[in-house]
Amino acid sequence: MILPKVYITRPLPPPVVERIATRCDVKVRPEDTPLDPPKLAESCHEIDGLLATGVRVGEEVIQQAPRLRVVANVGVGYDNIDVAACTRRRILVTNTPDVLTESTADLSFALLMAVARRVVEGDRYIREGQWQYPKWELLWGTDIYGKTLGVYGMGRIGKAVVRRARGFSMRIIYYDAVRLSPALEQELGAQFVDRDTLLREADFLTLHVPLTSETHHLIGARELAMLKPTSFLINASRGKLVDEAALVETLQSKRIAGAGLDVFEHEPHVNPGLLSLANVVLTPHVGSATAATRLAMAMLAAENLLAALEGRRPPNLVNPEIYA
Ligand code: DGY
Repeated sequence: MILPKVYITRPLPPPVVERIATRCDVKVRPEDTPLDPPKLAESCHEIDGLLATGVRVGEEVIQQAPRLRVVANVGVGYDNIDVAACTRRRILVTNTPDVLTESTADLSFALLMAVARRVVEGDRYIREGQWQYPKWELLWGTDIYGKTLGVYGMGRIGKAVVRRARGFSMRIIYYDAVRLSPALEQELGAQFVDRDTLLREADFLTLHVPLTSETHHLIGARELAMLKPTSFLINASRGKLVDEAALVETLQSKRIAGAGLDVFEHEPHVNPGLLSLANVVLTPHVGSATAATRLAMAMLAAENLLAALEGRRPPNLVNPEIYA
């Protein structure tokens, strides 16, 4: 029997590779290093399935892969995949929702707490040997308890952040293109507001919006100018949602109090203006990076891939119009 050929773009945990190998002829790229589209395309000539992690899959890759039937992305966001081009070729595209919701919400809240309570500055202060005596006005931060959390995007991760915020007795306001049902709003204790009210009233504005052509630079100079000077921006969603140059300017001129950022406009490049600011906490796109969550994501991607290659509808299909 001829098994479908699968390419995995970086080393993944053995149970994931073994699971796929029970039904497919698998090749795993042994390096966990950047893979540019022309190089990826070279490995895709004969494959039926691609398990994509940390790579851009655009037209140039798809064109070189005449047999490709499925792109299983390891990640909930799939802005790295040209879904329209895949759909034209009837290639199924899948993602990995749910399994990373809680970990990503944890990281969003960790950034919020770290920047509000100046955790990273405190760590640096001790390591640099600056802690010589009990200073009265040392690293005063901002209370989280009782403050207003503004949630931009009330999907799975936004809701999970809200559940954490309730433990801090925060007032919760949110904006989303689709309003929640009254019952769900009540259960979450979240009040729907318009975009401008969200920006004006949030003490912490946290972004949980997928990146699309409509959401690119959702937060630009105009939006940043509407935030309170005491407010913080938290982003563990996608860097391109924010105009990073405008954010740097806003932070440098102290027009907001700080930011907690896990994602950047041109990853892995980080605007040098952010690096010199003490009131900014930076992490390298690790929202879902726990051992358990990364394993669950890779396993879910494997299940999506196998379903597609076996002619079953994958559980996390992002282009269902293929079946229409
Ligand atoms: C996701 O799942 O979209 C995370 O950002 C990892 O890329």
